[in-house]
Amino acid sequence: MRKTIIAGNWKMYKTIKEAIELANGLKRELFKLKELSVEVVLCPPFTALAEVSEVIGDSGIQLGAQDVYWEKEGAFTGEVSCSMLLDAGCKYVIVGHSERRQYFHETNETVNKKVKAALACGLLPIMCVGETLAEREKGLTFKVLDDHVQNGLKDIGADDVTSVVIAYEPVWAIGTGKTATKEQAEDAQKYIRDLLAKMYNRETADELRIQYGGSVKPENAFDLVAQPDIDGALVGGASLRADSFSEIIRKASEVVK
Ligand code: 13P
Repeated sequence: MRKTIIAGNWKMYKTIKEAIELANGLKRELFKLKELSVEVVLCPPFTALAEVSEVIGDSGIQLGAQDVYWEKEGAFTGEVSCSMLLDAGCKYVIVGHSERRQYFHETNETVNKKVKAALACGLLPIMCVGETLAEREKGLTFKVLDDHVQNGLKDIGADDVTSVVIAYEPVWAIGTGKTATKEQAEDAQKYIRDLLAKMYNRETADELRIQYGGSVKPENAFDLVAQPDIDGALVGGASLRADSFSEIIRKASEVVK
């Protein structure tokens, strides 16, 4: 059984004070749900990690970062290591988000180094993959997924790979309000799972969690998460408010698979 995972990627939003307020607001909302049947992860900017960690405490909500560097330490101005993220209270780290691929020259090779470094120090990577609109229109979606998944997971064995969460985020659906239909998302995510079965084996592929990301809102969360190969959501805009994010979590918790 794969536990549904709903993560909020706060991107470059929220000062420390605002982050504390949002985390407190969420904690209050989620407390009303009593037992959480889904895993909830908050990914604030680096500057707010330690404070958000303090707020969530032992509430069961998990902390994640939005990026990491693969070296252990050294003269790498501006970078943050895996052990620093663990120290700040992180369990997860997002790797290879399309915004990092697009604006910061992230490649499959650097994504692979980051996934390996995270696994080696006990952080769970959320590896983002997905096609642009131009790639989809040219019929290249599956080719891009092959490229992102195979190269991102290069040289990672079956024992380790089950600790990876894959986030399928079609670039054209991110921040655009244009959600992939549940059929489009399921189609791509089933493709990823079948690819993992070919790369590893069926049992391993069935263990790995694959999230969908791209304009997830309270209105579409249930239908998306109800798809057989969609094991949760990576939420951007709608994770910036306690009411919308907790509503997404509530909808996802209603899905019984
Ligand atoms: P939106 O939910 O704002 O479309 O962002 C999705 C995303 O990029 C999450 O990582």
